[in-house]
Amino acid sequence: MSVTAVIGAQWGDEGKGKLAHILAADNDIILRYQGGSNAGHTVISEGQTYKFKLIPSGVLYENKLALLCDGVVVNVVTLANELTELQQRGQLKGELKISRHAHLVIPVHCQQDVYFEEAKGPRAIGTTRRGIGPAYADKYFRVGLRAADMLNGDFGARVRAMTKRKNVLFTGYYGKQEVNPDEIWAQVEPTVAVLAPLVDDTVQLVRNAVKANRPILCEGAQGTLLDIDYGTYPFVTSSHPVSGGALLGTGLSWRDLSRVVGVSKAYTTRVGAGPFPTEERGPEGELMREAGAEYGTVTGRPRRCGWLDLPLLKYAAELSGFTELALTKTDVLDDLDEIKVCVAYERDGQRLDWPDLDPHELERSTPVYEVLPGWRTDTSGIRAVVDLPSRFRDYVGYIEQYLGLPVTVISVGADAQATIFCS
Ligand code: GDP
Ligand code: IMO
Ligand code: MG
Repeated sequence: MSVTAVIGAQWGDEGKGKLAHILAADNDIILRYQGGSNAGHTVISEGQTYKFKLIPSGVLYENKLALLCDGVVVNVVTLANELTELQQRGQLKGELKISRHAHLVIPVHCQQDVYFEEAKGPRAIGTTRRGIGPAYADKYFRVGLRAADMLNGDFGARVRAMTKRKNVLFTGYYGKQEVNPDEIWAQVEPTVAVLAPLVDDTVQLVRNAVKANRPILCEGAQGTLLDIDYGTYPFVTSSHPVSGGALLGTGLSWRDLSRVVGVSKAYTTRVGAGPFPTEERGPEGELMREAGAEYGTVTGRPRRCGWLDLPLLKYAAELSGFTELALTKTDVLDDLDEIKVCVAYERDGQRLDWPDLDPHELERSTPVYEVLPGWRTDTSGIRAVVDLPSRFRDYVGYIEQYLGLPVTVISVGADAQATIFCS
């Protein structure tokens, strides 16, 4: 049995897309279990760059089945565009299916996201404005639209009814303009012909694949610290990126998971608001942003940069049961004389080894740093562990020892080729 989950260990953008693309080659089925088009997963392969929002990166290979499972919220307009673009590039090689239970994001959810953020003023979360929170809220309020609804004759009426309901909120609560239900339907209607044929019973597909021992890869979106329950609430997304989410969102059971790969940068980034104890506002943070091209894949916003936070990483490893770690963007630190790593916090004069994720408490937790020597070597062309500078290996060893986990993959560049497999 082989079910592997690739899971963001930080605040997203750890390089999950690159790793999932690499691992997808050895799997038959690649699935997304949560999140929506707030994800931006970059894959650079054979001279081509892809920025996946919803489609799992496995579709770049022949004969793969890519599934958008139950826990995903599917923006129908984005997905239809993404499919068309990939088809036009001749790169839609695998087969895509959408769970009939997956909830839908329609443009009125995105509008609600914008109004909601604006209304929050200085307390805004800094969402991607992709309608994620509103779509999950509708799901849990049990008024959402699901993929299977696209197969019914009353889908247009339901889209219009949802828009009208939200208009009451838009005008009455937010004091904004109404949205025209016919205009929303005009955007949604053309996507039905493209997406409705892809709707399927993905739970059965997943269960059959497990029984047949076909290798499955779960491609997580966002990251542990953005988890709705285990992240820095309220500065989080509205789903479960942790490994438990890969079970709830797909129809896999705990018995099925065999490998859980946490993905972490060699430093830390965050887009949007919220606590970030190791944020580096000085020149070293600037260096990370420029050397790492740290600008959001979805929104283009500059990412906040800082040092690796080992207590938070250990927290992520424990919550998801990482069996190993993939360490990415190590090349970004190539030019630093010294590299700081947070090994604990101090709060009210006391040392904390276990982080308190309450935003207020995390804000006032001061990182305790260990300073390690930089390797000051261009590592981007290295492809074997033995060729890595010894100080680089010490850095990796330090992380392994702290976490009690092996680093099995090191990523030294954005291209799929720029990868070192440690075994
Ligand atoms: P994801 O959301 O976790 O899939 O990550 P993103 O694609 O949003 O962000 C990661 C960014 O870093 C992308 O621009 C990748 O092309 C790039 N990237 C991934 N791995 C590496 C690496 O090892 N080194 C460098 N320099 N860039 C990388
Ligand atoms: P990938 O899959 C980084 C952040 C947003 C915001 C918060 C809530 O590419 O790693 P949302 O739109 O989800 O309601 O925004 O979560 N966020 C991400 N940050 N990478 C992502 O996805 C993210 N998806 C959401 O910036 O702070
Ligand atoms: Mg991303």
